[in-house]
Amino acid sequence: MNIAIIGAGYWGKNLVRVFYSLSDDVKLKYVCDLDEKKLAKIKKMYPDVQTIADANIIFSDPEISAVVVSTPASAHYELIKKTLLSGKHVLVEKPMTRTLKEADELVTLAKEKDLVLMVDHTFLYTPAVKKIKHLIENNELGKINYIDSERINLGLIQPDVNVIYDLAAHDISIFNYILGEWPSSVMAFGKSFITKGTVREVEEVAHINLEYPSGVMAHVHVSWLSPVKLRKMLVGGSKKMIIYNDVEPSEKIKIVDQGVDIDFGKENSFFPIYRSGEISIPKLSEGEALIAEAQEFIQSIKENRSPLTCGESGLKTVQVLEKATQSMRENGIKIYF
Ligand SMILES: NC(=O)c1ccc[n+]([C@@H]2O[C@H](COP(=O)([O-])OP(=O)(O)OC[C@H]3O[C@@H](n4cnc5c(N)ncnc54)[C@H](O)[C@@H]3O)[C@@H](O)[C@H]2O)c1
Repeated sequence: MNIAIIGAGYWGKNLVRVFYSLSDDVKLKYVCDLDEKKLAKIKKMYPDVQTIADANIIFSDPEISAVVVSTPASAHYELIKKTLLSGKHVLVEKPMTRTLKEADELVTLAKEKDLVLMVDHTFLYTPAVKKIKHLIENNELGKINYIDSERINLGLIQPDVNVIYDLAAHDISIFNYILGEWPSSVMAFGKSFITKGTVREVEEVAHINLEYPSGVMAHVHVSWLSPVKLRKMLVGGSKKMIIYNDVEPSEKIKIVDQGVDIDFGKENSFFPIYRSGEISIPKLSEGEALIAEAQEFIQSIKENRSPLTCGESGLKTVQVLEKATQSMRENGIKIYF
């Protein structure tokens, strides 16, 4: 299978590394980028890959079966559409598109053409997130009450999307995956500070509140303006709780046997009973998420099936991002899905 990658920037070069060394029956034929300097670097590292600036060469090459799009979000819609119209499968970076309307059109087009449309929601392929899903599904945490996530650092401010589209895309895809449901409502607050008043004004800090049909309450804090890098998620269950710290090199997940029950006793007395049990650190499987994801893309094409992070899941994530942005711009109104 011959494949091509469009966009060889900060993230695209990881995709180039992974797809280049994936397996003998997958050949990375082209890497396309508008930036000649980036192409020169790729050529130096992978001399047998053709480096090109015009993506139309890819669309018109009948040898190419699949395309990976890793450009900034504003270019995704056009490139995905051209890829699908040329009869090729596509893996696109998160966020799939900037609007629900675009995502909807592309999901329909992929279905009509019977092609795989997959979105790179990388965290769903990490051993840590898989473990959390497994623990929830096996009822080891009890009833999930809340999820609280913080994804903040002095980030790479994007020119074409706000911090919600850039960073919360990860949290929202993780929440939806581990809970196995989609939110019923969203409220968000956020502001632009550094880019305020410029032609590229985007919100750089945001807080999002989500409610799920099962009653789970979720909160995400995303920021490009933090002096510290935090990638921390708390999952609060009625039996146990999880501390997931993605910047930890090895002990990413801690399962905490702590909680509180209220004994109302007789005559409306009120006795909180605290549990303070053990903290366990599960051993996580090894393996790079991006390799697992690239394999899933290739396998879903070979087996003519929907991948784990399919176009529909990308679309639903975009829907949450769009509504969160709308809420943020309308003073935090609650929006129902
Ligand atoms: N999954 C993840 O964890 C993760 C992490 C970082 C970024 N991303 C996503 O990856 C995508 C790219 O982000 P980045 O940080 O690498 O951006 P970047 O700006 O570093 O790289 C994008 C590259 O695309 C090229 N490009 C733009 N339009 C093009 C076109 N029409 N044809 C060919 N090349 C074109 C640019 O020249 C640039 O080299 C974004 O969607 C981003 O959200 C995902």
